[in-house]
Amino acid sequence: MLHATLIAKLNEALGWELRAINMYAHYAANVRGIHRLQLGPMFDSEATESLAHANIVRQSIVKLQGIPVTERAPHPIIHTTEYSEMLQFSLETETQAAAVYGDVMIQLEEADDQDLKDAIEQIYLAELRSVEELRLLME
Ligand SMILES: [Fe+2]
Ligand SMILES: [Fe+2]
Repeated sequence: MLHATLIAKLNEALGWELRAINMYAHYAANVRGIHRLQLGPMFDSEATESLAHANIVRQSIVKLQGIPVTERAPHPIIHTTEYSEMLQFSLETETQAAAVYGDVMIQLEEADDQDLKDAIEQIYLAELRSVEELRLLME
């Protein structure tokens, strides 16, 4: 039970990644109008990035002898064809992800696994970059 809190936090992050995969794939398919040219590929690459993050987090949980969740975070994925709403929901998602990884980073302070710390820090920084990028896109 040594890593119970850490595993729980990692599972929370995994749930958000699983949700992000669905949300971004949904928005990539549904974005309409001229913005589809740029936002389609952007949402696709966010879905791919979320899949990669989910894989890293899942493997970390297994390494800690935990059981990874198989269900996404229950927070609703809102259907829309409005690109501005998609960006707003994306910003909310990335902000939430950054907060959860921030919590994981705190949990990791006492862990002695440098590989795990580095891997999670890279993901945390990627989420922060996404938050900043979305903020700029919405100006
Ligand atoms: Fe992510
Ligand atoms: Fe993200």
